[in-house]
Amino acid sequence: MDSFLIKGGTPLRGEVEISGSKNAALPIMAAALLTPDPCVIRRVPNLSDVHFMGSILESAGATVKFQGDTVTIEAARVKGVGDYELIRKMRGSICILGPLLGRTGKALVSLPGGCVIGARPIDLHLKGLRALGAKISIENGYVNATARKLRGAELFLGGRAGPTVLGTANVLMAAVLAEGVTIIESAACEPEVIDLANFLNAMGARVSGAGSPTLTVTGVRSLHGAEHEVIPDRIEAATFAVAAAATDGDVTIRGARADHLHAVLDKLREAGVSVERSGSALKVSRPGRLKAIDITTLPYAGFPTDVQAQMMVLMALTPGISIITERIFESRFMHVSELARLGADIAIEGPSAIIKGGKALSGAPVMASDLRASAALVIAGLAARGTTEVSRVYHIDRGYENIDGKLRQLGAKIVRQEAS
Ligand code: EPU
Repeated sequence: MDSFLIKGGTPLRGEVEISGSKNAALPIMAAALLTPDPCVIRRVPNLSDVHFMGSILESAGATVKFQGDTVTIEAARVKGVGDYELIRKMRGSICILGPLLGRTGKALVSLPGGCVIGARPIDLHLKGLRALGAKISIENGYVNATARKLRGAELFLGGRAGPTVLGTANVLMAAVLAEGVTIIESAACEPEVIDLANFLNAMGARVSGAGSPTLTVTGVRSLHGAEHEVIPDRIEAATFAVAAAATDGDVTIRGARADHLHAVLDKLREAGVSVERSGSALKVSRPGRLKAIDITTLPYAGFPTDVQAQMMVLMALTPGISIITERIFESRFMHVSELARLGADIAIEGPSAIIKGGKALSGAPVMASDLRASAALVIAGLAARGTTEVSRVYHIDRGYENIDGKLRQLGAKIVRQEAS
C-alpha cells in the first residue's frame, strides 16, 4: 500500500487546476446504461473510483473506453446484474440500481456495506423506487428489484439527515423512462444532481427543477446518446483552498465553480482567509491572523460534510475554540484521533468536535481512514513541523486526481512511497 512522506512547513504557492467532479461523474457514467447509444463524457477525473465504476458498467454488459479524461460508454445490451464484489467495494456504485431498473425492468446489485463514515443505509433509494412501482427484496446480500412497468408518482425523499444525493440520483434515473410524471419532493439540491439532470436532458429526458427540492420528471419512451462535460470538483477545489490557508500560502485555483462553493468560501472568509474571485479562478491567501469559527455541515447549499475534516485542520491551527458539528454523517470523525498524533487538541461531544486551536502541529506517522479524512491528514502534514507519513493513501487516490503531483507543483514537499 502506497504512503505519502510529507515534509511540512512550506507555504503552498502557485496555480492548480481542478479536475472534473468524482461525485458528478459516477452517477453520470451509470446513466449511460439508460441508452443503447454511445455516450461521451468529458472531464472525467482519473481516479480509482471512476475506473471501478467503469468495471461495474462492463460487468453489466456495457463497453467502456477511457481516453485521457474522456470516457465513452456504450450499453448496447444490458444484463440487469452488477458484479457483487465490485459493488460491495464502492458505495457510489449503488447508483446503477435506478438505471438498470429503468432500462431492463430488473436489477440485481449487491447491498453496499456501511463504511467508516457511518451506517449509510439505502432505505430512501428503495422507498423512491418502490413508489415508482418496483418490487424490491433484499436476499443474500443482494438488492433484487423488478418492475414490469415503472409508473410516475409523487414521492418524498427526505430522511433523518435531510435529502439523499445518490438516492435522488437513483430515483431520477429510474423515473426518466417511467410512464407519466414523477415528482420528487425533498430532492437533493447538490450541483452533482443538477449535472446529472443536465446529462439526462441531453439524452432526451424531461427533467425540470434540478437544484431545487422539487424535481419534476416527465417520462419518455427512450433515451439517445449524448455528450457531456462533467462539472469541476467543488470538494477538490475546497481542499486546495483549505490547504493554501493552512500553510499560509498563496494559491490560485483554476477551473473551479465559485457558485458551487459559497458556504465554504464564506466560512474561509469568516476565518480570516482572503478569497479573491476572478472568472473561474480563486486566489486564496492569508493576509492576517486566523479566527476561530463554528461550522455545521448541512445538505447543499450548506457547508459540505466532504470538507469538514479539512476545515478541522485549519481550525486546529487557529487560536481559540472552534466547534464543528457534523449533521450528515454523525460518526465522520475518524480523522480526530490521527490529528491528535500531530498534536491537535480536539474533543468529540456527540455530533460536535470541539477544537482548541493554535498549538503548532508536529509531524507523525498517521493512517488514512476514508477519502476526506486522508485529505485532512495531508493538509495537516503540510502545515506541521517535521515529517508526516500518511499510510493507506489508496483512500485518497479514490477521489483526488494526482493530489501529490498537484501539491508538488505548488511547492509542497510530498513524496509517494510505492508499496514494494
Ligand atoms: N441516508 C439515509 N437513507 C438513505 C440514504 C441516505 O438515511 O437511503 C442518510 C445517510 O445516512 C446520511 C444522509 O442521508 O445521513 C445523506 O447521505 P446521502 O445519501 O446524501 O449520501 P450519498 O449519496 O451516499 C454522497 C457522496 C458522499 C457525500 C454525501 C453527502 C457520492 C458518490 N457520494 O453520498 O461523498 O458525503 O453524498 O453529501 O456522491 C465523498 O466523496 O467522500 C463522499 C463520501
